Amino acid sequence: MTTARHIVTLLKSHIAGDEDRFLSTALQLAAHEARQGHGKLAQEVKDLVDTAKTRQPSMRRAGGAIVLVQPKGELAGLLSARYPDIRLTDMVLAQPLRQRLDRILAEQRQQASLQSHGLQPRRKILLVGPPGAGKTMTASALAGELHLPLFTILLDGLITKFMGETASKLRLVFDAMTATRGVYLFDEFDAIGAKRGDRQDVGEIRRVLNSFLQFVEQDESQALIVAATNHPELLDRALLRRFDDVIEYTLPDVSLIEAILRNRLDRFATPELSWVDVANAAHGLSPADITRVADDAAKSVILDNSGTVTAASIFDALAERRLAAQAMDASNRP
Ligand SMILES: Nc1ncnc2c1ncn2[C@@H]1O[C@H](COP(=O)(O)OP(=O)(O)OP(=O)(O)O)[C@@H](O)[C@H]1O
Ligand SMILES: [Mg+2]
Repeated sequence: MTTARHIVTLLKSHIAGDEDRFLSTALQLAAHEARQGHGKLAQEVKDLVDTAKTRQPSMRRAGGAIVLVQPKGELAGLLSARYPDIRLTDMVLAQPLRQRLDRILAEQRQQASLQSHGLQPRRKILLVGPPGAGKTMTASALAGELHLPLFTILLDGLITKFMGETASKLRLVFDAMTATRGVYLFDEFDAIGAKRGDRQDVGEIRRVLNSFLQFVEQDESQALIVAATNHPELLDRALLRRFDDVIEYTLPDVSLIEAILRNRLDRFATPELSWVDVANAAHGLSPADITRVADDAAKSVILDNSGTVTAASIFDALAERRLAAQAMDASNRP
């Protein structure tokens, strides 16, 4: 190949985002230059390829923005990728929970020094707790804190009814963890991890759990694996010892409710508002519900141009949310 052909191939692989092909073409170019007697130039290209290979493979910076290399081929149907920009400080968390998440971050950030002492950082985490408690948000925040991409496993793409196919797709996901460091989120994890005896459709779905157990056990990647469920009671016991941490989310107490409300409404004037009263009235709701109540109150402030959040606007929003919750409960009752 001539140098010009190499440049065309380089550009094509750059456009396709195919980094492997890009680098292997660069090496071919180096070999070509060496044959022409341009040893110094060839060495320079080889050194640059080595530098590129040690760089974080999953992201590139273009004009200051982070460009995520999206999963390609069969992986595209199995993983969705994003770069969350939220942090743990965007969440309102009880102190013990916050400490456990901080410990995961500290171990991830200092994995090299742990490994130099023969220790592995916490990497396989199970989050359990009621709907709307912040499990999915936590996975995003961990990715945001660690500047890693968040890969969410797409269950629809993963679980098929064909014999053996799900296990081979699951293998692709675990292979991706080795290739690209990131936070890999198995959301609604009970779809994979429910007890083996409990299944109606014992065949394929039981194989999925067995494959997951095997893959997660063998996995030695540097990825952070986060599984989340609001049905921990359904999970197979064999799963528990595969996780380094099982972290429980609960509904917030009154002081956390107050913190969530204040967080969302701090842009507005709140004279004469008793935070304790409104927080007490919101007891029993999830952080997701409370966030929504705060946002509803904020919207009414904006729309009526008053600039002031009143207790009445929050109580109205609360009443509406509780009615919605009751309607959901009633429709879910057998
Ligand atoms: N601890 C929190 N602090 C602040 N906001 C929160 C918190 N938890 C949840 N929220 C708000 O609620 C929304 C929904 O939370 P999230 O999706 O993380 O809940 P979840 O536990 O994954 O629920 P599910 O079990 O239904 O999937 C978040 O996007 C955020 O706006
Ligand atoms: Mg969730």
